[in-house]
Amino acid sequence: MSNDALTHPTDGLAIGHALTEAATIAGYAPSIHNTQPWRWRITGHLLDLFTDRSRVLAVTDPDARLATLSCGVALHHARMALAAQGWQVTITRLPKPTDPDHLARLHVDGRAPVDLPAALHLRTIPLRHTDRRPITGAPVGPQELQAIAAAVEAEDTWLHTLTPGQVLELASAADHAQRTETDDTSWLDELAYWTGGTRPGGTGIPDAAIPDRAARTTVPGRDFGHHGDLPISAEHDKAAVYVMLHGRTDEPSDWLRAGEALSAGWLTATEHGVSVLPHSAPIEVVSTRQAMRVVLSSTGYPYLLLRLGTIDPADAGPPYAPRLPADQIIEQPEPTQTP
Ligand SMILES: Cc1cc2nc3c(=O)[nH]c(=O)nc-3n(C[C@H](O)[C@H](O)[C@H](O)COP(=O)(O)O)c2cc1C
Repeated sequence: MSNDALTHPTDGLAIGHALTEAATIAGYAPSIHNTQPWRWRITGHLLDLFTDRSRVLAVTDPDARLATLSCGVALHHARMALAAQGWQVTITRLPKPTDPDHLARLHVDGRAPVDLPAALHLRTIPLRHTDRRPITGAPVGPQELQAIAAAVEAEDTWLHTLTPGQVLELASAADHAQRTETDDTSWLDELAYWTGGTRPGGTGIPDAAIPDRAARTTVPGRDFGHHGDLPISAEHDKAAVYVMLHGRTDEPSDWLRAGEALSAGWLTATEHGVSVLPHSAPIEVVSTRQAMRVVLSSTGYPYLLLRLGTIDPADAGPPYAPRLPADQIIEQPEPTQTP
């Protein structure tokens, strides 16, 4: 159907509704410490995505690389929602060079056939979540890995599967990053603000999603500074597979694309019964980020490490982390006053 299809008087309403729904669904996106550092603005046929600086981790993420990556996940979620509902959209990433917080503009061009893979992703979005329990099942198979890599690569980002030797390098980098961060009281204060307890506000990582004891792992997971309530197995997670999202350059536009790739890969993983746990500490600390670059033979730049594992289909997994209400992340024009 051509763009001329946008002539029916109800299309404006339908587009406004579709954009509100897309931005609302994007709220399910995973983000560093569940900060949800995004803000959406709807104006006519336009949906604009901005970084919300009030929810960027000033100490952990001073360049906003992980916030931008998180916003990229939200952008991909919104894209899937629109494609699944049969809307043709043009996306401009970083549309204003003078405004680095303006990450993307989506323009609805008109109707399109419903995109079936996007429709499947749309169903998966509310089901996806982070699982920090040790991986004790069978290792992820080659077919699943290939499907996840293809989804990532379709978003202009690469996926490298770490060799056993590189997993040990990652383990050492994760341990070093963790020690560097915990030596810094401002980092500890920031972590304590965003994790654990029963904090109000729909953000942060609740105790229910944090393991109730130290997990037996080759690569240390994030040390939240306290144990949570999530029951975990005493087994070693030796079945874990580690992959790295990476690309040729290291600019905000790459981090945004890496987030879109993370969304595509994570939704595909969930659909294939594979759990995902991001490891961002080795990216947060400059020296360990450099060490991860060496793993790539300095041919590219690392964006994020992921632990993959198979999920027992009978296991519902850990509880879901909270989310901000839609009206706190979406700006809508004031309704026109009738005289
Ligand atoms: C860029 C990014 C980095 C993350 N880094 C970590 C990490 O280092 N350790 C961890 O346990 N979870 C990490 N997470 C997972 C988030 O904590 C999680 O997505 C968030 O709390 C929301 O929970 P959900 O994924 O279950 O919806 C990361 C997520 C993103 C998007």
